[in-house]
Amino acid sequence: MSCKPSNNNNWMIECPAIVNASGCMCDTKKSLTELNQSSADGICTKTATINPRMGNPSPRYWEHPDELFTINSMGLPNLGVKYYLEYYKSLGLKQQLDQHRCLSLAVMSTEESVAMLELVYDSTAEYCKYIDAIEWNLSCPNLVGKGILAYDFAAMSTWLDTITSTCIKKYNQTKQLEHGLKLPPYFEPYQFDVVASILAKYPAVTFINTINSVPNGLEIDIDTESTVIHPKNGMGGLGGPIVLPVSLANVNGFYRAFRNHSPVMHVNIIGTGGIQTGEDIFKLVLAGADMVSVGSQLMIEGPIVFDRLRTEFCEIMHAKGYYSLSQVKGRLKVAAAVTL
Ligand code: DHB
Repeated sequence: MSCKPSNNNNWMIECPAIVNASGCMCDTKKSLTELNQSSADGICTKTATINPRMGNPSPRYWEHPDELFTINSMGLPNLGVKYYLEYYKSLGLKQQLDQHRCLSLAVMSTEESVAMLELVYDSTAEYCKYIDAIEWNLSCPNLVGKGILAYDFAAMSTWLDTITSTCIKKYNQTKQLEHGLKLPPYFEPYQFDVVASILAKYPAVTFINTINSVPNGLEIDIDTESTVIHPKNGMGGLGGPIVLPVSLANVNGFYRAFRNHSPVMHVNIIGTGGIQTGEDIFKLVLAGADMVSVGSQLMIEGPIVFDRLRTEFCEIMHAKGYYSLSQVKGRLKVAAAVTL
């Protein structure tokens, strides 16, 4: 999303937009309303499927007692795409100063993605008028028997072909709504370049969100000698502070890959994963993030987290004498080599 930075703080210091990560506090109208009434710069729904889903059996979410990490295997429980479209419609037409409104959509099959696009672009309901962006979730690690699409570059390209041509040919509109991809963590540097060269072919994709939860972790309770969650033999996506180095590597890997691919390639980067403090956000911006989203810490602390993070970020900027994001974004330095 090109969700604007906010400088509505006492410091007159620019702060990146901070939003909820999809999956956190966004599955029902009640929780979305709480986010809508918070100081989040934007809101994103739970990843929706065409029909409501129960998700995986419980226990399916676990928090480390010292908040080191979370592990989840929710399995996309959600109320169906129409529920979230109707929620956004209930907020009324978008006004200039409103929070950005993002709809997260699952990618279960190309047919289902196209069917959901048909609903979004429906000319009677006109849901498009009530939302800013679609974030396609290509990286849910918790679908039993189903791999992560964004790890299969050929399948991801085929899906992108269909989706972007549906938007352009059938609805003649890519401008009205932004489209972005929620990506899994990549662990090999060449993968950033591969994804960048794929995305260069699809200018309708204007943002990526990196990273989704890290697949797959396993936590064991030694008293019961059992896994802490039930689905997938206890395996699930990892979130929380332990994943921050992975999200920093992915944000910076994509920042460099986009810049190296072409100076005119512009895909906004939402940095997600492991944010606990304003310092973490400062690091993500240095690595190249345009904006950030908060997952596990929002679950732990509630929507008050947005104010705290913004204040802490501004304190760091102030202490360093910075006032604008352009002084920081992507300006990560690589430690100088020392010859032994
Ligand atoms: C689910 C888990 C995720 O990490 C995610 O990004 C989206 C959905 C889930 O299992 O519901």
